[in-house]
Amino acid sequence: MAEFSLALNEEQEQLKELAEQQLQQLKKRVDALQTEIKQIDTEVKLQAQRVASAKEQAQRFKQLAAEKFVSDIVARQKQDEATDQEIRLQALRRQRSTLDRDLSAAKLEEALLYFLGDEAERLLRSGMSAVDLGAAPGGWTWILARRGLAVTAVDRGALSPQAQHAGAVRHLAQDAFPFRPAHPVDWLVCDIVDKPARVAELIERWFLNGWCRQAIFNLKLPMKQRYRDAALMLARIVAELEDGGGRVACTARQLYHDREEITVWLRRI
Ligand SMILES: C[S@@+](CC[C@H](N)C(=O)[O-])C[C@H]1O[C@@H](n2cnc3c(N)ncnc32)[C@H](O)[C@@H]1O
Repeated sequence: MAEFSLALNEEQEQLKELAEQQLQQLKKRVDALQTEIKQIDTEVKLQAQRVASAKEQAQRFKQLAAEKFVSDIVARQKQDEATDQEIRLQALRRQRSTLDRDLSAAKLEEALLYFLGDEAERLLRSGMSAVDLGAAPGGWTWILARRGLAVTAVDRGALSPQAQHAGAVRHLAQDAFPFRPAHPVDWLVCDIVDKPARVAELIERWFLNGWCRQAIFNLKLPMKQRYRDAALMLARIVAELEDGGGRVACTARQLYHDREEITVWLRRI
């Protein structure tokens, strides 16, 4: 009986030990599972963060694309406006150039009326030749060419198409001061904006060299005692030309179309 009881105790001990071992194994397994669950949790959180940041980036790209789209449109609009503005500016410049030409033309018409009067038809007629110094944009050239004169227009600036196609017009884009005509001409006209003494010297040279018979030119008046100084300058031209031989006549006037200048008609008689 005692032997049987001892064997039972031993078996119970063994079962208990086995149960204990199984319990330990289960605990280990649970611990491992809990660690795994934590790792999965961390991974899920990381994935969620990645998804959120990808969404944010996508949103930012969308916004950038929208901003670029808008800025492209604004840039294109600005470009269109600039082109538009340039076209309007060019039109204004053309208008200004036409106005300048018409005003200059009116000035020469007034000079011809005032100085030549009824003699204009005889003194300015088809077949004659003229040089226009400082001709652009071409009002004076236009008037002379329309009266049938062959005109050489000297100016670095461009002539208007009307002046270019008004008749026998030749444009020389060069400095007017050193220019020498190949043959003497009937008329010299000069509307160069420069120091009056320099223009006076130029006109004198033309007459002394016999390059023209008569001239209409402008003298700008920047001097203080403008009319007295201008009168002295003209008297000196006449004296020097008469010293050089022959007689000349000189008429000068501040015309309606003249501002800070006088217009002069000088001719050999
Ligand atoms: C008042 S504008 C002449 C206007 C012209 N008479 C007309 O009817 O259209 C003066 C001109 O002189 C020209 N000019 C100024 N200095 C010059 C120079 N050294 N040689 C040639 N032209 C000159 C300018 O280029 C300008 O076109």
